[in-house]
Amino acid sequence: MNLAVREIAERASGHLGLPPQEIYPLITSPPDEGLGDYALPCFAFAQKLRRSPAEIAKELADVLRGGQHIVNAESAGPYVNITVDRAKLMQYVLSGILSGGENYGRESDGAGKTIVIDYSSPNIARPFSIAHLRSTALGNSLKRIYEHLGYRVVGVNHLGDWGVQFGTLIAAYNRWGSQERVEQDSIYELFRLYVRFNEESERDPMLKEEARAWFKRLEDGDPEALKLWKWFVDESVQAFQRYYELLGVEFTEIRGESAYRDQMAPLIEDLLQKGIAKESQGAIVIPFEEEGLTPLIIRTKDGTTVYATRDLCSAIHHYEKYGFHKKLYVVDAGQSLHFKQLALALGKLGYPWATGLVHVPFGVMLFEDQRMSTRRGHVVFLEEVLKRSIELTRSIIDTIKKSSELTEKEKEQVAQDVGVSAIVYADLSRSRTHDINFRWDEVLNFNGQSGPYVQYTHARLAGVLRKYGKSIPSELTYSLLSHPQEISLAKCLEEFPMKVKHAAEEYEPFVVAGYLGNLAASVNQFYDNCRVLGEEPSLEEARIALVYSAKIVLKKGLELLGMKAPERM
Ligand code: ARG
Repeated sequence: MNLAVREIAERASGHLGLPPQEIYPLITSPPDEGLGDYALPCFAFAQKLRRSPAEIAKELADVLRGGQHIVNAESAGPYVNITVDRAKLMQYVLSGILSGGENYGRESDGAGKTIVIDYSSPNIARPFSIAHLRSTALGNSLKRIYEHLGYRVVGVNHLGDWGVQFGTLIAAYNRWGSQERVEQDSIYELFRLYVRFNEESERDPMLKEEARAWFKRLEDGDPEALKLWKWFVDESVQAFQRYYELLGVEFTEIRGESAYRDQMAPLIEDLLQKGIAKESQGAIVIPFEEEGLTPLIIRTKDGTTVYATRDLCSAIHHYEKYGFHKKLYVVDAGQSLHFKQLALALGKLGYPWATGLVHVPFGVMLFEDQRMSTRRGHVVFLEEVLKRSIELTRSIIDTIKKSSELTEKEKEQVAQDVGVSAIVYADLSRSRTHDINFRWDEVLNFNGQSGPYVQYTHARLAGVLRKYGKSIPSELTYSLLSHPQEISLAKCLEEFPMKVKHAAEEYEPFVVAGYLGNLAASVNQFYDNCRVLGEEPSLEEARIALVYSAKIVLKKGLELLGMKAPERM
């Protein structure tokens, strides 16, 4: 909140008798820069004060005109348009960024609080599809955003490494598998076996029995079953690690569902004893009649445990280990019921922290208009998409760059940094609850709202600073920065800390992604309209400070999304 905005809110508050907190969020920009720097619509006040908005706007214009930071205020119908002291505004924004540097907008909101984020959490023995990117990218970004706000963040990969699908896999491997093929093609071969099994079991239901029997043997500790299971897990984890490295994703702990094997029986016993769970048709369930939800099965009639049983254990484990303030589950919206039941069940067990469990749902990812289904094998593998993106980026760089500008090695690196980040940005640039449709022409559009566009803008500023070649002067004549594009750029830069907080509150990295798209557009408008290098020295210095500030914010924003910010491209 800059001083001018604060003054507008406080003085309007004094006049209207409403708290300034109700006024801040209403302050916007006028539709046309010629009208002023800020606008205050009066509709909301009209309702409260039972007077016409135009009448209130007129009065407010008189009240606001001529303040410490305000130069002029005029009413226009139901709006007040306000022009502020631009030199003061510039000084406020730029000196904040220049002194904060890399730490601009860093907060201590989270001091002393721990957030556990469960994200990515893929199922073993299936290659990562592009759909799995959603949880991985969202979780990774939320982790960075919360860290920036001062929280201790624990990133958990709750691998799907236990469950009846391992019965499926063992049964399929015993029927059709070969050690050699698995060693050669690891996770892709396991996936083929899995898909074939599902197809054939539609014709021959006995196969499903076979799979269940294998999982039962696994849960009972059968050495043959355990040996195969362990091998499948190792092959898969190795493959996942490749994607995580490319994406720059790290976890505090990789702790799969199998880690809770021994905790499940005592927990089920406890739930039964407390009367929270009961038997129903041979299975054990937690009923939610009062809550109007379907019962949660925690042990099947075969005596095997399920996904939900392990999630009960993992929540307890994480609370005991970290004493979290919140635990976020970044998991698709299809699992909403599961997470509702989970929190309710833990509440029934008497854990007050159960209210801190938050499901952060997201919509479906379509690929060039197609829906994917892992069970049927209609998937687009993330690894292929990343490779293709890197290749396409490389060919774009080759056409737009003269060979002298970047060495061969630099081009490789840029292609990787930009190609991978383009995919991440495509995922994060829409509100998470929207379904997204992945399209190559949008993902790699260097001019539109895309990852490469934001990165390119950052690299453009880096280039200007390289050419300038001196350090940023500490004494600046802020009043020289009065071009409308300079003012709108400064106003945009000032929004960054608020956007980051907003993203954290809503669990929406998209707020930062969308903001960066707008910031990049604002930077380019400024740069196309205002010459920087070669201007008269004091103007050049002031503009360089603006360039430097914009670069800091772009870079930090990219980092918060889990994207790279190359200095050249
Ligand atoms: N492995 C699950 C899946 O792919 C997601 C797990 C999410 N985390 C959790 N604690 N349930 O659907």
